[in-house]
Amino acid sequence: MDQIPWWKKTVVYQIYPRSFYDSTGDGIGDLQGIIQKLDYLKELGIETIWFSPFYESPQKDFGYDIKNYREIAPEYGTMEDCDRLIHEMHNRSMKIVLDLVLNHTSDQHPWFIESRSNLDNPKRDWYIWRNGKKSNGKKPPNNWKAIIRGSGWHYDNFTDQWYWAQFLPFQPDLNYRNFEVQKEMLDTVRFWLDKGIDGFRLDIIDALFEDAQFRDNPRSLHVVPSEKSSDFLFQSTKYTQHHPDTLKFMKQLRSVIDEYTDPPRFMVGEVTGPMNYLRKYCGDTRNDGLNLVFLFKSMGTPINAQKMKRLIQLYEKFFPDPFIPTWVFGNHDRMRRISRLGGSVEKAKLNAAFQLTVRGVPFIYYGDEIGMESHYLNIKSSLDPVALKYSNIPTFILKAVRKYMGESLNRDECRTPMQWDNSLHTGFCDNRTTPWLPITYSYTERNVKVQSENIDSLLNCYKRFLHLRNNTPSLHSGNIILINSSEIPSSVLSYIRSYSHKSEKQIAIVYLNMSNTSVQFKNPHKYANFILSTTVQSKNEKSKNVEIHLFPWEGVVYIA
Ligand code: GLC
Repeated sequence: MDQIPWWKKTVVYQIYPRSFYDSTGDGIGDLQGIIQKLDYLKELGIETIWFSPFYESPQKDFGYDIKNYREIAPEYGTMEDCDRLIHEMHNRSMKIVLDLVLNHTSDQHPWFIESRSNLDNPKRDWYIWRNGKKSNGKKPPNNWKAIIRGSGWHYDNFTDQWYWAQFLPFQPDLNYRNFEVQKEMLDTVRFWLDKGIDGFRLDIIDALFEDAQFRDNPRSLHVVPSEKSSDFLFQSTKYTQHHPDTLKFMKQLRSVIDEYTDPPRFMVGEVTGPMNYLRKYCGDTRNDGLNLVFLFKSMGTPINAQKMKRLIQLYEKFFPDPFIPTWVFGNHDRMRRISRLGGSVEKAKLNAAFQLTVRGVPFIYYGDEIGMESHYLNIKSSLDPVALKYSNIPTFILKAVRKYMGESLNRDECRTPMQWDNSLHTGFCDNRTTPWLPITYSYTERNVKVQSENIDSLLNCYKRFLHLRNNTPSLHSGNIILINSSEIPSSVLSYIRSYSHKSEKQIAIVYLNMSNTSVQFKNPHKYANFILSTTVQSKNEKSKNVEIHLFPWEGVVYIA
């Protein structure tokens, strides 16, 4: 057995609990519903599940506004249900990852209610309060902007001061310069680890500490954040994001996580910004910070061999062993990958083949395995509080953002109920109730039942690639070498994954045709055996390995 920890080899599946399976008939998903569907995920080949928050919450941001970090939202179940979920998952050798929102709480959290009640309250300093500017204090303390535009300072007339919120006004930031806050949150981490939780996804963790002197952020030329800079709306995030004290706190968190060794636990951080910043969260030379960070550049990268190749090179440059990149194509905030791919199932299969064979930890968003699309919804009637903030933006601009930037400003669109079958409400909830968000139009084809019965479906393609990856050391643990050969057409992305441990040696060779035309070329590695294709129609199945033939958007794996 090698020493590679399980979390480096795993595949993570994200569940948005509100949308997975409703067992109680109220139109929203719940923990018992998830338990009922665990066998589906186990058979699919999923080991790790990350759950978007299901703690007690007023649900104004659907759980990312926490009211009690140690209780379960009653609409999702009870602590007993949660214990059962942990138990049922561990029984199936699955791992459970919770979403931890350390940066802020709900404004309904008892700590904040106390904090805002008066200047002398012992919890006053648990949040970030400042006097306003101007003689009457009616201007925000400085120019800091919230991530979703507008000032992040909110005036509170109880005490005539302003509180700071990186995200929405009802999500006040905790003050990590107060050691009681640090202690409480580290204890919360331990509380869940003691219950057997295997890891955490850390929400906007790059925003934990701000400048202690509250200096104004400098101006910047950037309008939207990118991989080059996290600045936005003409303002730098110098004093509000990536603070050196945040990086120090990552190491502190890691030392808590590492107290738990049987099995080891892990953390993945939601961090945005340039690659060298992202890497810093994981550590300088040793991986002694966060185990993993999300890398989001993949989401907007088209299926194009040269572009994907450059992306692998970039990720490998910043995340060489012992670090490891993550491959993320969707989540509960962004447009679904298949919608960015024009709805094409063929491309989605190739995307899956890529994600499950490249070096890194894959993150699959629920429903991606059946090709669930983002569902176009009117922003004016959205439930998502961020979308409501943008709801007066003219429709033609929203359409342009969708078309040219591949983004939707309405997060409801990627959070619609999981599609289980082609009945009314697609088997997500009882026919007598209404699901909390509408079902997508393509549910009659894109559902678990229909696709399970079709051997060449996207679902079965995911399943085959997941099982192959899980059982193939070179695919889950090998290094990666890009193949540069003039014999292979430039539209084909190809790489070798190679693994060796003691006397065990294995290589997997992957060829992905990222074009809409068939290609044929001499097989440079004739000794390797054809193992799997994205389509059951593949011509390589019966070939003698002399030539490789790839249909448009076909991907194949050979192993030696
Ligand atoms: C993260 C979450 C998002 C949430 C926000 C505030 O970006 O992914 O869903 O609204 O943080 O917690």
